[in-house]
Amino acid sequence: MLTLADVDVFVQASHILRSVSLEVGARDVVCLVGRNGAGKTTTLRTIMGYLRPRAGRVELRGRPIHGRRTHEIARLGLGWAPEDSGIFADLTVAENIEIATWTRSGGRPAAERIELAYGVFPALRRYMARKGTAMSGGERKMLSIARALALDPELLLLDEPFEGLSPAIIPAVSSGIAAITRLGHAILIAESNIHHVPDFTTRLYVIERGEIIFGGPPDDAWRDTTVSRIIGAPSR
Ligand SMILES: Nc1ncnc2c1ncn2[C@@H]1O[C@H](COP(=O)(O)OP(=O)(O)O)[C@@H](O)[C@H]1O
Ligand SMILES: [Mg+2]
Repeated sequence: MLTLADVDVFVQASHILRSVSLEVGARDVVCLVGRNGAGKTTTLRTIMGYLRPRAGRVELRGRPIHGRRTHEIARLGLGWAPEDSGIFADLTVAENIEIATWTRSGGRPAAERIELAYGVFPALRRYMARKGTAMSGGERKMLSIARALALDPELLLLDEPFEGLSPAIIPAVSSGIAAITRLGHAILIAESNIHHVPDFTTRLYVIERGEIIFGGPPDDAWRDTTVSRIIGAPSR
């Protein structure tokens, strides 16, 4: 569904992504794992059109999307939950979710998408009238993912969905992500903590200094000595 082929990205004079190639298929749950500063956010921002590759291709369903604008890319079916959540703080939870249904029309009716978003994160229902400014970090993360889901995307990009969350809220976020996969959406997760890689991950990539150094099934990654040296190994 989504293909990055030999993507090079520069930020000013710095060569940040080096020949990055990766693939997300329909219904895949792909984890892009790497240390802080490795290039995960840059990769997701490039997919969303915030950054343009200097070389290489980004394709959605076989069609190039690099060079398109972010709102067009969202309309093509990519939902984005950024690292800092990026919710509209002055709007309520309900308004944040509703706005996403305007961004992309077609597909499921708006009311159905809103129901799905609350279905995945039932806790949000209690805060519907609350504004972003009054929410905890975990509630914002849930809202950010719920809002991306209300776009009815084929693929969701989640940048560090567990970062900075209290241990008490991690299971709610985790089960929400699992529920999204059961709805049939593909997911690409950027993750710096190996312990947060969901056990339903279908494919894992490891990025180090802007280069993909591993791509394959998670079980193979845990057996790879270079991978475990860089990112460690899960405790399970
Ligand atoms: N706006 C920017 N200006 C300069 N350097 C940047 C900028 N954004 C990212 N970088 C650099 O790009 C590299 C990759 O960053 P990033 O993609 O945010 O990593 P990650 O998300 O894996 O932590 C880092 O070395 C970072 O310092
Ligand atoms: Mg990042």
